[in-house]
Amino acid sequence: MLVPMRAILEAADTYRYGQGAFNMNSFGQVEAAVRVHELLHSGAILQGAEASNAYMGGAEDFMHGTIEQKRKGAKALGDAVKACGENSPVPIALHLDHGKSLESVKACIDGGYTSVMIDGSSLPYEDNVALTREVVKYAHPYGVTVEGELGVLAGVEDHVFSATSTYTNPMQAIDFFKKTGCDALAISYGTCHGANKGKDTVIRREIAIATKECMMHEGIHGFLVSHGSSTVPQEYVQQINEMGGKLENAFGIDVNQLVDVARCGINKINVDTDIRLACTRNILKMFLDQPALQKSPSIGPIFAAMTANPKNFDPRNYLNSIIDTVITGQIPDSDVEKIVACMKDGVMEAIAPLLVQFGSYRKSHLIQPVTLEQMADRYKKEGI
Ligand code: G3H
Ligand code: 13P
Ligand code: ZN
Repeated sequence: MLVPMRAILEAADTYRYGQGAFNMNSFGQVEAAVRVHELLHSGAILQGAEASNAYMGGAEDFMHGTIEQKRKGAKALGDAVKACGENSPVPIALHLDHGKSLESVKACIDGGYTSVMIDGSSLPYEDNVALTREVVKYAHPYGVTVEGELGVLAGVEDHVFSATSTYTNPMQAIDFFKKTGCDALAISYGTCHGANKGKDTVIRREIAIATKECMMHEGIHGFLVSHGSSTVPQEYVQQINEMGGKLENAFGIDVNQLVDVARCGINKINVDTDIRLACTRNILKMFLDQPALQKSPSIGPIFAAMTANPKNFDPRNYLNSIIDTVITGQIPDSDVEKIVACMKDGVMEAIAPLLVQFGSYRKSHLIQPVTLEQMADRYKKEGI
């Protein structure tokens, strides 16, 4: 069933495990993600970023999509999650990742999202508070969960690039929760987006611990989110490079550090890059194992696009020739079916170990199956 993200994070917080949140960019990925969460009896948070919505709305230049394209794509992703997850035995939330405007939030809620992030982290503090408060006021009457962000992560956040990070101030985080009424907060504590996080990154766990501790003292029942948390498995990187890829300095966060912070304050752990790497590795391997496919009329252009840009590992940049399949899940021929199978396997391989390691494995029964309407009532009674 589909639930507000808050229901999933309440269980993670109460029982002190980490809940992975995974970015989706195609119908097939959603299908595979739902299935692997079912097999491991874990609640699921599936995310669509602004660029994913634009891409699923048919935008070729998806990093600069229009609001109309995002609206269309949010509905496509919402429909995919409904089709694969509405009757699922595990609770599933669909969450907007790094939403930038109220317009975008509205498009996602209309499209069936049960949770939204509004990322005002690049704004002056008071403007971030005002924008987040506006989104909370809009989303909570629908029962939709809201995540904000405070502090700046280094690396690429959508098309906003920040070379340096500003760590979150725990005292300001308390003020932010109080002023905005948001449910969850993304903090900056040493992680960073993308595949180049630096070798042997040590995350500043004390920021998560201090923030959570202050929240408890202040009676704030909110959740903390770790962005930029891909582990960048070195075997994926090595295999991609052995097959012609050119990934340089690709390192992630050591999973043991994520397991540690999940026990002391971090509730939600965002992963996107690992899925992109696994899908790219699988597709490259298939083309090398079955060279005849490199000339396939339907999927040959995928191989050409991959070899033309060996530094790229974002499937959205090479799947143009099968965009209808990406968006709707319809499979026109057996070659396209093979690509979809590689993508689905990539999603499952990347997600399964993290569900076990973060600890949401076999915990789906601990999540209250709350509907959006029930959550809206709760917010109303509590005056938030
Ligand atoms: O946090 C950023 C996510 O990895 C989303 O990436 O904006 O390229 O879809 P994207
Ligand atoms: P990664 O780039 O580490 O996968 O981070 C994803 C993320 O934070 C999505 O919001
Ligand atoms: Zn992020």
